[in-house]
Amino acid sequence: MIAMRAATLLSLLLLAGAALLPHAVSAENPYSTISPRTGVASDIQFLYKLIFWMALVVFVGVQAGIVYTVLRFRRRSELEERPEPVHGNKTLEIAWTILPAVILLVIFIPTVQTMFDTHAEAEEKDADYIIDVYGKQWWWEVHYAEPADQVGGVITANEIHIPAGKRVVFRLYSNNVIHSFWVPQLSGKMDVMPGHINRLGFTAEKPGVYYGECAEFCGDSHAWMRFIVYVEPQEQFDAWIAAWKAGPTAAAAQAGGTGDVTKAPAAFATCAACHRVNGTQFNTAAVGLEQSPDISKIAGPNLTLFGCRKTIGAGLLANTPENLASWLRNPGAIKPGNHMASVIKPGTVSEQDIQTLVSYLEALQPEGGCPTHAGENADVAPPVGRDVSIAPAGAEATPAGQ
Ligand code: CUA
Repeated sequence: MIAMRAATLLSLLLLAGAALLPHAVSAENPYSTISPRTGVASDIQFLYKLIFWMALVVFVGVQAGIVYTVLRFRRRSELEERPEPVHGNKTLEIAWTILPAVILLVIFIPTVQTMFDTHAEAEEKDADYIIDVYGKQWWWEVHYAEPADQVGGVITANEIHIPAGKRVVFRLYSNNVIHSFWVPQLSGKMDVMPGHINRLGFTAEKPGVYYGECAEFCGDSHAWMRFIVYVEPQEQFDAWIAAWKAGPTAAAAQAGGTGDVTKAPAAFATCAACHRVNGTQFNTAAVGLEQSPDISKIAGPNLTLFGCRKTIGAGLLANTPENLASWLRNPGAIKPGNHMASVIKPGTVSEQDIQTLVSYLEALQPEGGCPTHAGENADVAPPVGRDVSIAPAGAEATPAGQ
């Protein structure tokens, strides 16, 4: 009876394991921690595996002990006497004191080693690049800091380009609540704290597209505080920086109807209190820890090269003209609690201005088009949220499929 139950339980466990395994190891899960692509992520993976296998041995050992005891010492008949109670067994007590101490030591030593290595990767000294990341509600502002003569002053949002094979250090800031910066395949989590700068560093060797997210609950749209790290060859990275600095192209100016690359369309004036486009007259909105005077708490993402972003709303919608138009019609219906919705309500921006803004923003691309990325996750579509489409003239949001 017991053996049969045990067999049933075991086969259920095996079935569940077999069903889950393909999901756990699938390349379609860019948020998975079990396919590390940097040294620090591999170190963390090593600890994870070490603890996993040791825990498995302990689990199997304990279960085997229980099963053996239950079967071997069960009461076989009514006539059997109760066994003599025993108190204390010196050998056993020494064994179960020393064994866990040894197990803890085996975990402790590589853990401390990993902590030192992770810390060394985050040292600003001799870092190839230093990037300041500001956790906003609910998106990420990215300031390229060092080397100042190459990348200084470049500001973007929710998508971070870095060169492959270079040690990049991120300094993490917040002026609101605590967030957590996490790219599972590249590094462990690091809290983003108000009033304190945390650092995180890694060297990503393998080009590709790496998905990150905020890993600390931070309010309404915590789930839509995602970001992408593009690891690209040095030349591609340099070209991207150059394109950012160059500002809008003639094609963008034409799409915006101004014909002048330094001028964004007049419709952008509404946006300019919070958003910047490098190279245009609209390049003065607050950034970093500055407080925007126009909305009490924050400024919005820098929109330079916006046309190349994969998503809108920090991972929420795919960046398509239709989705962007929906967003401009009623951002509050798409992303709960976002600060843009306190200014932009249905009808705030006219349909004609929306069309101009969509054409202009989607045309903010480098000369010759957006960079394409090969390598890790290159063919994985960004895991965006529910498809919300908002029709012109302030119609209500309709989730897809209804
Ligand atoms: Cu920021 Cu969760």
